[in-house]
Amino acid sequence: MRRVSSARGLLELRGGILWQQRRDSRGCRSDGWRPKVRLSTSGRGRDRLCCSRICLIQSEKKGALLFFGSAGCVHCHAVAGRSNEMFSDFNMHVVGVPQIAPRFGVGTGNVNFDGPGADEDFGLEQITGNDADRYRFRTSPLRNAALQPAFFHNGAFTRLEDAIRHHLNVFESALSYDAAAAGVDRDLRTRLGPVEPVLDRIDPRLAGAMFLRADEFADLVAFVRTGLLDRRALPQNLCALIPASLPSGMTPPRFEACPQN
Ligand code: HEC
Repeated sequence: MRRVSSARGLLELRGGILWQQRRDSRGCRSDGWRPKVRLSTSGRGRDRLCCSRICLIQSEKKGALLFFGSAGCVHCHAVAGRSNEMFSDFNMHVVGVPQIAPRFGVGTGNVNFDGPGADEDFGLEQITGNDADRYRFRTSPLRNAALQPAFFHNGAFTRLEDAIRHHLNVFESALSYDAAAAGVDRDLRTRLGPVEPVLDRIDPRLAGAMFLRADEFADLVAFVRTGLLDRRALPQNLCALIPASLPSGMTPPRFEACPQN
């Protein structure tokens, strides 16, 4: 049994059927769940399936099947127990993210990096001092990930597709990485640290390549991009909350994603 939580409610995947927790008492099963929809991988069926207040479009549903099934994302982007539906186990893993390491100094970077070339980020080891924790970073929660301008701890990817594709074959992704092609801002791409030592410690779950057909990959992206999106968090809803002036008289902060800024 696997729990799925869309931004719009609690869902659960059992035996290929997506179950929805009932919000009303009418016809309620004893365990409080009712079948929402049988997930079919055939791609046939209605475009959009809604039950009560929860809707997942066909591609999101198929993406959810992959996420909680064969693609194995839920092992780290967990929802059960203390993950509290946040799509993270809140544990640290080595996932082979390219090492963006802008040089330290005026007009360039403001971080002193680790390692012999001062061009690495040792991640959790910085805090624990334990060599075994090198390059480990916390699993990112995935709710509203679609609204982020960049991905991973250092923003090595700027497109959600690229961040997801990286997981499918971390060796190929990391070894062929091009910061400019990944859309990283010019001032952050002055230097890359070595990625081979990171790959030497890759999490066993990501050590092998995973093959997804183009349509399966698109479904997986659809699930993360729109299935896990709460539309109330869209800029057009949140930007309106920025006050025009502050009681202190100070200038309100500038939010790049908001048009009026
Ligand atoms: C071995 C554990 C693990 C597995 C399996 C895994 N991830 Fe991740 N994922 C991580 C970690 C750890 C990070 C954050 C790494 C960092 O910040 O450097 C991450 C980051 C991400 C991000 C970027 C989010 C952000 O806020 O920057 C996305 C998107 C993502 N994962 C999607 C997926 C999908 C989809 C799958 C299944 C194909 C998957 N992950 C499988 C551990 C995992």
